[in-house]
Amino acid sequence: MKVIIVKDKQAMGKRSAQLIAEDMQKRTPYVLGLATGSTPLPLYKEFIAMNKAKDLDFSSVITFNLDEYVGLPPQHDQSYRYFMNTELFDHINIQKKNTFVPDGMAASPEDFCAHYEAMIKDVGGIDYQVLGIGSNGHIAFNEPGSSLASRTRVVPLTENTRKDNSRFFKSIHEVPTRAMTMGIGTILEARKIILLACGENKAEAVARALQGPVTAMVPASALQMHPDVTFVITEDAAPQLKTPYGSYFEKQ
Ligand code: GLP
Repeated sequence: MKVIIVKDKQAMGKRSAQLIAEDMQKRTPYVLGLATGSTPLPLYKEFIAMNKAKDLDFSSVITFNLDEYVGLPPQHDQSYRYFMNTELFDHINIQKKNTFVPDGMAASPEDFCAHYEAMIKDVGGIDYQVLGIGSNGHIAFNEPGSSLASRTRVVPLTENTRKDNSRFFKSIHEVPTRAMTMGIGTILEARKIILLACGENKAEAVARALQGPVTAMVPASALQMHPDVTFVITEDAAPQLKTPYGSYFEKQ
């Protein structure tokens, strides 16, 4: 595990964009796994700036998003498809047909999940997977208790996550109760993984993910079993780390 501790969100965005952009030069077409939530926004801002400056080309990039709420159509302003379009895809030279987000309105969400797995396999797997982390240690929508070998599937959302995410909705009652999510096993198949975290409300989850026991009760702890994971975290998300080192440690 590599741990990079940066001053603030802007630095988190810059450092993570740099790492991903470097790897993107190695392969064409390149397959990026993307995440939603407020944490990856500084990374997406950086991608947009690099693309506008002609430093980063997305024309042959394929993307797969981690998850989507069941029951929200793509034009709903809280759907993850809407989020990805407005925060990233509409502003870079990516071909929209190469961007994939689980379909929250699929007639059979279960069948769709199997199809999503097959699509990822068809393009040869994910090269770099971007992750955030929930305050309870969840990754994508793999809540505590998810099997570490889980695949893309339909899951119920915990009250904790619905409460955390209710800040984006008019009230908690409007937050969907189910989602489609890549599984932990699916995520672990990516060649490289980068986890971003900022804010003191993530400090405990970060420490348990990096240095706690590997357990289904902290889904992000499964990343300890992956050979190429980098955590890029802000100072305020790091204080609970005991000895903040991995195979590589950098403090800016
Ligand atoms: C949601 C997403 C996760 C994300 C988490 C944290 O639950 N499904 O992928 O990591 O929110 O969101 P934020 O970055 O806004 O704290």
